[in-house]
Amino acid sequence: MNCCQHEHYASSATGDYGYEVDGARITYGRGVLAEIGEAAKVLHMKRIAVFVDPHLCDRDFVKTALDSLREAKLDPVVYTDIAVEPTDASFKQAAAFAVDGKFDGYVSIGGGSTMDTAKAADLYATYPADFMDYVNAPIGAGRAVPGPLKPHIACPTTCGTGSECTGIAIFDYVAMNAKTGIRARELRPTLGIIDPDVTRSLPAMVVACSGFDVLSHALESYTALPYTQHARSPKGVARSLSQGANPYSDVGCIGALPIIGEHIARAVNDPNDEVARERMMFAAMLAGIAFGNAGCHLPHAMSYAVSGNVKDFKAPGYSPEEAMIPHGMSVILNAPAVFRFTAQACPERHLDAARMLGADVRGAALDDAGEVLSTRITELMKATGIPNGLAAVGYGKQDMDTLVEGSFVQKGLINNAPRETSKAQLHSLYTTALTHW
Ligand SMILES: [Fe+2]
Repeated sequence: MNCCQHEHYASSATGDYGYEVDGARITYGRGVLAEIGEAAKVLHMKRIAVFVDPHLCDRDFVKTALDSLREAKLDPVVYTDIAVEPTDASFKQAAAFAVDGKFDGYVSIGGGSTMDTAKAADLYATYPADFMDYVNAPIGAGRAVPGPLKPHIACPTTCGTGSECTGIAIFDYVAMNAKTGIRARELRPTLGIIDPDVTRSLPAMVVACSGFDVLSHALESYTALPYTQHARSPKGVARSLSQGANPYSDVGCIGALPIIGEHIARAVNDPNDEVARERMMFAAMLAGIAFGNAGCHLPHAMSYAVSGNVKDFKAPGYSPEEAMIPHGMSVILNAPAVFRFTAQACPERHLDAARMLGADVRGAALDDAGEVLSTRITELMKATGIPNGLAAVGYGKQDMDTLVEGSFVQKGLINNAPRETSKAQLHSLYTTALTHW
């Protein structure tokens, strides 16, 4: 751990003096998906909305989960109308299904999109409201969730996202062509069932993109503005989920980064390497716990405009019909440029993160921290077939203003960066991210 931990969280006259954590409840291990029926019963579910990624419907593990629910004498109703990149329209449609079905529990089986869709459906069916009411300000009204939601068991099927551990649901707000979301502790699933057996048949690029999402969750949480430098929360008001790095979130990052550095390339390049894929799934959980309690910063803030303004790029392993830059890819394409910039704020942490990811930091000076970390990230990108920068997914200098405008609205994420970030700075970061090697 960073030797200057105490200094990193030094108190200040105006900064916050406390942080809040929500522990995720998890059942983890090969074969645990077959326990879902009993788990749902313990949570007093009877009539259950089961959100399933439409591409996974015919997989054995989905049948295993549904059989388990039926054997427990529960009534699962499957919903598969889930967008790869959810939109306000797809969230609303899922909410309408949830209202009609009068469910007393939710299950999600899929990646982040599926889990996030279930979170939103649970929210709007439990506490109906105008759609924009709960959406993050300034795009939405940022209204507080009135109380606890119906129980939700989230079952991730990729080695990434960590959505089962967070109270965050991300979607594409089509009218503004911008990604935004709903952030509230109440959205955190009641239970995550993480069964590494489900990752066996994942295509290489899906493992790479979800793996880099995990890597960036851990790096961003570790290097986020410390909670002691965030403005104090008014008394009685819960702290934001983007409350900044804190000693609790650090534990998740420190657990996740060495696992990712050692296993990401193996997990991507060898579908039979069950150990590597299992370890990545574990790292995703640790990083999810970290970013769910610290918040991400610039690579995520910048990623939403990159995904949202896609032209004609299609990622191998994803839908052949739809132009799409997967979330984890759009995050990591920005990361090398960002960490060169943010290293100046806390070089010890950047160097420490590079070491945990497997870089040789012997002899490296603190001034080298950003370069060492960014070089290690690009090594891992090259080793896993990630495109070489934003130019390789269709962007050019003429797109920089659009990307800047699309990302500058991500205030919660931008304000969680360890350095103040202007529009001009974002322009420079995007330009640097056009090509990495
Ligand atoms: Fe992410």
